[in-house]
Amino acid sequence: MSTSENGISAQNYQSAKGFCVTAAFWLVVATLAGMILATEFVAPDLLGNLSWLSFGRVRPIHTNLVLLGFVFPGLLAAACYFLPGLLQTQLYSERLGLISVWLWNIILACAVVTLAMGKTQAREYAELIWPIDLLVVIFFVLVFYNFAMTVKQRKEPVLYVSVWYVLAAITLTAIVYIVGNVMWAPTTGAMTGMPDAITLWFYGHNILGTLLTPMAVAAAYYIIPRVCRSPLYSHTLSLIGFWGLVLLYTHIGTHHLLQTPAPTWLKVISIVDSIGMIIPVTVVLINLWYTTKGKLGEIHADVAAKFVFAGTIIYLLVCIQGPLHSLPQVQRVTHYTNWVVGHAHLAALGFSGMIAIGGIYHILPHITGRPLYSRFLADLQYWLILLGVSGFTISLSIAGLIQGNGWLNAETVYRILPQLHIYNVIRASTGVMILSGALVGFYNITRSLFLNRQDLSANE
Ligand code: HEM
Ligand code: HEM
Repeated sequence: MSTSENGISAQNYQSAKGFCVTAAFWLVVATLAGMILATEFVAPDLLGNLSWLSFGRVRPIHTNLVLLGFVFPGLLAAACYFLPGLLQTQLYSERLGLISVWLWNIILACAVVTLAMGKTQAREYAELIWPIDLLVVIFFVLVFYNFAMTVKQRKEPVLYVSVWYVLAAITLTAIVYIVGNVMWAPTTGAMTGMPDAITLWFYGHNILGTLLTPMAVAAAYYIIPRVCRSPLYSHTLSLIGFWGLVLLYTHIGTHHLLQTPAPTWLKVISIVDSIGMIIPVTVVLINLWYTTKGKLGEIHADVAAKFVFAGTIIYLLVCIQGPLHSLPQVQRVTHYTNWVVGHAHLAALGFSGMIAIGGIYHILPHITGRPLYSRFLADLQYWLILLGVSGFTISLSIAGLIQGNGWLNAETVYRILPQLHIYNVIRASTGVMILSGALVGFYNITRSLFLNRQDLSANE
């Protein structure tokens, strides 16, 4: 049995393999749900009156599946591979890892069924009902225990920055999940009034800011130096970026509530620290991009690194856009419009999703001991998703500005709708590219894992 670049037998990566399949599978289901939503914007009556296909039920299925079913497991798969390598030890328990994989898939399946039945707590990104919330917390505790024990029994004394990010992401999310889902109130999963909205967006923001973002940055910090065969440009910068993210990003959720009666002091903190986010983001990107100095050829030649590198460029765009629309003057135009949906796709798919796919492609040869099933298909998926998400962002940003102008000019909604139609059509068409990318990825990833007879050593 071959060993990976980590020196650990390929047989020992069962959890990483499980999370790869999880991410690839649920991306297909999630994008199908996204296509249903996009179709309903273009042709509202096409799918009839089936309650479980109605917009209000499919939307949370889509959002929960993309974030928790695709991006997070993809990044977790990468972490299950690079943590043992960075710590010079095996994952504490592959069996516990596999139990986590199954538990996570049960959670996702239960989420789809209950949301389709209309069983929801009706708070954005926190829709799952209490019994499922409980399973989610158990999952995070299992993953935390597995990772923490791996750190405890490590042979490498120095903790590389990717380890910091992963541990922080899992720990913070376990706490944020309990608070944000108001788990001490099982029947409603909610409080009332403004305190509830503030708590919800503390959670909604952090599921992106303290789960997906640090996990994605951790993967980029691992993959880019590996592929370039260069040491990280600066460990000091990596620590500044880490602490900057923890100190600034954790409490700015109120920037989602600038148009509400939330306390002014909280809005001011959220705006100031949203702008402050420019510091940790710039620091992370300078550090990663300087590491690639003179090595862009290596990045271009490696399909996994291409995904990750594109993700870092999109991270820059997202984090210019984010602070900008945290300003009340800008949000007066963009809030409640498709502009935000454009930002959401650019961020969740273009940044963290691209890095998640890059992470999977980077680890596949190492966890299987065989080359990727098809480099061509991986390249195809890269272009389908990159062009798809670009089309999405451009069309939704324009649509958002049209809507925002309509609000400002006190235009009635029905007069604006015809102007949005073409952008909804473009969104649905570019959505087909993303769905095709998801299907191509699922095929390539499952073939690489299970039905690939090529031998890695034959290609070396
Ligand atoms: C400096 C970094 C960022 C800042 C300051 C920022 C700021 C914001 C703000 C103010 C909103 C709400 C806009 C509104 O409702 O009018 C928003 C929405 C959103 N952001 Fe960001 N963002 C940043 C980075 C990111 C990243 C890295 C991700 C994903 C990994 C992300 C994902 C989202 C999503 C999904 C929404 C939509 C939330 C909803 O459903 O309303 N953002 N962002
Ligand atoms: C076939 C591809 C896709 C299509 C057609 C699609 C379509 C949609 C639609 C129509 C919405 C509802 C927007 C609204 O309420 O106005 C939505 C929301 C959302 N989608 Fe997608 N989507 C796709 C793929 C993805 C992927 C791959 C991700 C992330 C990795 C993603 C992340 C999100 C997020 C975070 C939201 C919530 C946005 C917000 O509340 O501002 N989508 N999507």
